[in-house]
Amino acid sequence: MNLIVRDNPSEIATLVCEKIITLVKRKPDAVLGLATGSSPVASYQKTVETAKNFDVDFSNITTFNLDEYVDNPDYLQSYRHFMDVNLFDKINIDRINTHFPEVSNPKKYDEDIDLAGGIDLQILGIGANGHIGFNEPNTPFDSKTHVVNLTEKTICDNARFFKSIADVPKRAVTMGLSTIMRAKEILLIATGANKAQAVKKMFDAPSETCPASILSLHGNVTVYCDKDASSLL
Ligand code: GLP
Repeated sequence: MNLIVRDNPSEIATLVCEKIITLVKRKPDAVLGLATGSSPVASYQKTVETAKNFDVDFSNITTFNLDEYVDNPDYLQSYRHFMDVNLFDKINIDRINTHFPEVSNPKKYDEDIDLAGGIDLQILGIGANGHIGFNEPNTPFDSKTHVVNLTEKTICDNARFFKSIADVPKRAVTMGLSTIMRAKEILLIATGANKAQAVKKMFDAPSETCPASILSLHGNVTVYCDKDASSLL
């Protein structure tokens, strides 16, 4: 895995944005794997600005998001809404090409990704417990898209996006670890001291106790950390 450490999250966002824009220009019908959470927000903002300033065309781009909540009655708290607000509303993407996994038929998601030609560039954050997508510790490395019960830790971590912890959905549907590993290139963003332990474990020998550690078995992964997130390496 390549490791890039920068002083602050804004420098990381610039680098990630460059990767996205370069791909979209080189391959106008590229397939992007997208993440939610706070980690990629600045990268999406820069992507929006760059797309506007340089007229970058997303009309033939396809996206597959990593995960979505289940049993969540509120569109405003969904990851679909998150992506609309942070990216899709602000670029000329065709909504029909934007995909989220569905609880009714998780397996179809892997098939749909394959049918689209596979993910060219996958963006990832990392949970404080080492999860990627919603693949919690001890998820099998060979997992495909599936429904998960979220851990207490993840529910607590994500409560900041909800009115109260009671409103955080207890289940989600997520790309599996093998689904993620099929992406041709993967970028993982980790910022802040609360990610330092997970980042350290990610660079240890691959183990299902740290889902992100599977990434060292992939040939084209770049990890972008700020100083705090990389402090234990
Ligand atoms: C969430 C998401 C992950 C995300 C992670 C980190 O649970 N399902 O895809 O990477 O948590 O979130 P953040 O970037 O807000 O720290």
